[in-house]
Amino acid sequence: MDKAVLVSGGAGFIGSQVCKALSKRGYTPVVIDSLVSGYESFVQWGPLVRADICNKDAVLETIAQYNPIAALHFAAFINVGESVQNPAKYYANNVGASIAYFQTLVEAGVSKIVFSSTAAVYGEPLTPSIDETHPTNPVNPYGQNKLIIENMLADFATAYGTKHLCFRYFNACGSDPEGQIGESHVPETHLIPLMLDAASGRRPPLTIFGNNYPTPDGTCIRDYVHVVDLAEAHVLGLDYLLSGSESITLNLGNGQGFSVLNVLKAAEKELGQPIPHTFGPRRDGDPAILVANATKAKAILGWTPQFPGLEDMIRHARQWRNSGLSTTIPL
Ligand code: UFG
Repeated sequence: MDKAVLVSGGAGFIGSQVCKALSKRGYTPVVIDSLVSGYESFVQWGPLVRADICNKDAVLETIAQYNPIAALHFAAFINVGESVQNPAKYYANNVGASIAYFQTLVEAGVSKIVFSSTAAVYGEPLTPSIDETHPTNPVNPYGQNKLIIENMLADFATAYGTKHLCFRYFNACGSDPEGQIGESHVPETHLIPLMLDAASGRRPPLTIFGNNYPTPDGTCIRDYVHVVDLAEAHVLGLDYLLSGSESITLNLGNGQGFSVLNVLKAAEKELGQPIPHTFGPRRDGDPAILVANATKAKAILGWTPQFPGLEDMIRHARQWRNSGLSTTIPL
């Protein structure tokens, strides 16, 4: 098979969008996914191996069958709040499984790894926007998990000669503009899908978590980045690693912060209707502000986000949310 790449977690929101982008560029994404939180129907651009990444035999068999030239690793639990309530689950699944998986990759000679990390590694920012040199002090176990895995990759590189690219995503959102795949987490905890469901009446009013943060309107500020732009960065990043370049860590965000109320207003404008909402207490583990400086990704990869505005993110998310495909996924 030509240019096969392993995609663990390729049946999820970001992983599936990356598979679509990879396929457009002549790669064959071979998805390894347990389908614990991904969907078989999201795997449309290459084979699906339904297996846990800890299943060494299954991973080795897959590598023997497809001979992948790299691995992109998305598989993880992703809920910041849940990671605070149940850190054992997060350390076991995110850190433990990644150790096992990377060991298998090394043993099988897969030496280029693109890793799905997060802005949550930074914790509370010390500067208005965060570049990759900003200190890493995660304020929740999810961010800790991802930082440990980043550090593990650095040690693997030194010891075993692997090369890696860690992408630190800010707030992934939007959906496939062509409507083939989209954001459907169970349970859904992310702001934009919950907001859209509150607007359509599919769910109760949105609860805004905290309005006493040290921000202009008191609600948390985030840097929202369209999933199609994240996917494009992964293809560029893979090309970068395969060209023999050194390991690197890159932020992916738009460099613009929007408060929860800013997003609500933008969604109300897009929908042309008010969105029912109430204010509740802060959610554990939420930093007040997370805004990226992503100039390094732009300079090194030539990455140019195609959909940097909230309007496109909300419109595409809404298209997915209202589609037959999405509404058949239980809440
Ligand atoms: N929010 C609400 N009400 C909700 C859901 C979210 O007010 O019902 C708020 C959150 O408190 C936060 C903002 O909306 O301020 C965005 O929350 P999300 O849950 O959509 O996203 P997070 O910022 O918690 O986390 C996301 C990813 C993480 C990643 C992080 C990095 O899910 O994986 O962005 O910025 F680490």
